[in-house]
Amino acid sequence: MTIQWYPGHMAKARRQMIERMKQIDVVIELVDSRIPEASRNPLVDEMASGKSRLLILNKADMADKLITQKWENYYERQGYIAHQADSRTGKGVSAIPEVVHRMTAGRRAKLEQKGFRPHADRALIIGIPNVGKSTLINRLAGRKIAKIGDRPGVTTAQQWIRAGNTMELLDTPGILWPKFKSHEVGLYLAATGAIKEDLLDFQEIAVFILKILIRRYPSQLSERYKLPPVNRSATDENEQDLIVALFDQIGRNRGCLMKGGSIDYDRTSELIVRDYRNQKLGHLTLQTPPV
Ligand code: G4P
Repeated sequence: MTIQWYPGHMAKARRQMIERMKQIDVVIELVDSRIPEASRNPLVDEMASGKSRLLILNKADMADKLITQKWENYYERQGYIAHQADSRTGKGVSAIPEVVHRMTAGRRAKLEQKGFRPHADRALIIGIPNVGKSTLINRLAGRKIAKIGDRPGVTTAQQWIRAGNTMELLDTPGILWPKFKSHEVGLYLAATGAIKEDLLDFQEIAVFILKILIRRYPSQLSERYKLPPVNRSATDENEQDLIVALFDQIGRNRGCLMKGGSIDYDRTSELIVRDYRNQKLGHLTLQTPPV
């Protein structure tokens, strides 16, 4: 699985991001609550070094609430301020300026001590494409801000947007490329639709999703596809057989058949992936925090 990011783009995007960091107090990093670690780029740590960091678990509405809470606790243990949000409806968004304001209390106190009047809290939203950066900016701004293309390294004039009484936000988010640290990370990104469809092998992604559902969400799986209870305790040995059986049952139940009546595995795979992405299987988190 590859993605078209050219080294030149990356280097330029990185330089620009470092330049923009100089203007801001707080870096607001967005991740997808369904795949928090897989939707991050570790370069943020380098680019945002010395800045206050707020990590937003966005699309919380699409994820498993219990696991999102575990992720929030995990990130807090790592020293981040973490906060859940659903930028589409705005749930959790109005609290963000207050959270940011609390994070800048030390900086403001120092300035006041020296007799300066502190400026508004200046924030930059960053994250990989499709994680919800523009949606969050629009929510915080209370209006629609024109979206620039997801092309790192493209210079555009940027402006400060007022968000609440205490915060100013750069109108153009920082775009990071996803980091394919491993094949598994690529599969997480593909499963949620974070990377382009023409790069994908639907069958591999469907199998990846099914494996997680068998282990963690068997009842949602059988409910959606009207299957007998799925054997939760599938060992690695019989997991392959179980997956083939599931493909057959799902394909048959949903009419994904070829001429002659055999199962069309490509269509069945696409159905499973789209059902996951469209929340037809429920609010399910794919990636769990390390214990
Ligand atoms: P980006 O700037 O980071 O590239 O992402 P963008 O805001 O364009 O959001 C990408 C998609 O994710 C959009 O859906 C957006 O509505 C959706 N989205 C963003 N935040 C949330 C959230 O917290 N919860 C949910 N459920 N969805 C969210 P789309 O289908 O591509 O566009 P649209 O039809 O919603 O306009």
